[in-house]
Amino acid sequence: MKKVYEIIFSPTGHSKKAAELIAGELIAGELRGQKKTVDLCLPGDEERETAIEAGSICVFSAPCYGGRVPQTAAERILKRIKAPQGKEKIPAIICVTYGNRAFEDALLELADLVEKAGFRVAAAAALVAEHNIVHEFAAGRPDEKDEQQIRAFAAKARQFLNEGAESGLKKGAESGLAIPGNRPYKTWKASAPDIIVDKSTCVYCGMCALKCPTAAISKDGQRVDRGKCIGCMRCLAICRSRSLPPAYVSGLREKIAPACQGRKENLFFLPSDACK
Ligand SMILES: Cc1cc2nc3c(=O)[nH]c(=O)nc-3n(C[C@H](O)[C@H](O)[C@H](O)COP(=O)(O)O)c2cc1C
Repeated sequence: MKKVYEIIFSPTGHSKKAAELIAGELIAGELRGQKKTVDLCLPGDEERETAIEAGSICVFSAPCYGGRVPQTAAERILKRIKAPQGKEKIPAIICVTYGNRAFEDALLELADLVEKAGFRVAAAAALVAEHNIVHEFAAGRPDEKDEQQIRAFAAKARQFLNEGAESGLKKGAESGLAIPGNRPYKTWKASAPDIIVDKSTCVYCGMCALKCPTAAISKDGQRVDRGKCIGCMRCLAICRSRSLPPAYVSGLREKIAPACQGRKENLFFLPSDACK
């Protein structure tokens, strides 16, 4: 029985959904295995390591922030995900989601990280998902068409892995897959936006603090440690009492609008034999 690991960093759920679609297809198909989810967003889990079982398959999924993998995700993959020692490297299917602007170096960076962590990148995808700050960009995506494409991609990767047509897959990101991006990666630094808390509707439930991936919010939800906040939008996604200053959103909208026009298509990278 193959085990499929979903290893996700997904503050607002799009990268999680992508991983679930891929892992679901791997499990539904001939591999018939069990699924295990490793959520790298859970606060307070910083020291928890996951030893990946030999003979399994991993799906790594994370969002693109400023054309990069969020630094928190990168650190947690390297620190907490332990590939089995041995000659045969575990195959990894990797994906980044991005909000219809651009993914720039994020997929290449994720490929490099996953290989550094001891896996081999078997297939990769850059997937469009609703922009979680300026929601009108890629609103409603992934949609039905995206989901079909993602499943078809996972099915091809599964077929390739099952057939043991490993020649292409073993080469990994460096030689097997034409993943776009540059090294050194572009420079981007996370910054914490101001977050408005509507005190007339906040019930002080503390959920925002509990769910914050970097433990940046005080227990009562009223204060944000700007040194820790990575601006991931999770607290806004789970609570209607929290919002961004309208001027921040409109400024970003104006800045990225030219690059966000039109429907961007998902990109899939498979060893050439699997693309036929
Ligand atoms: C801090 C931050 C930076 C972002 N940078 C980009 C970007 O460079 N390009 C882009 O197209 N979308 C960008 N987005 C949008 C997210 O990549 C997109 O909504 C993603 O699907 C969110 O994933 P999640 O739901 O798994 O958290 C950014 C979002 C945030 C919060």
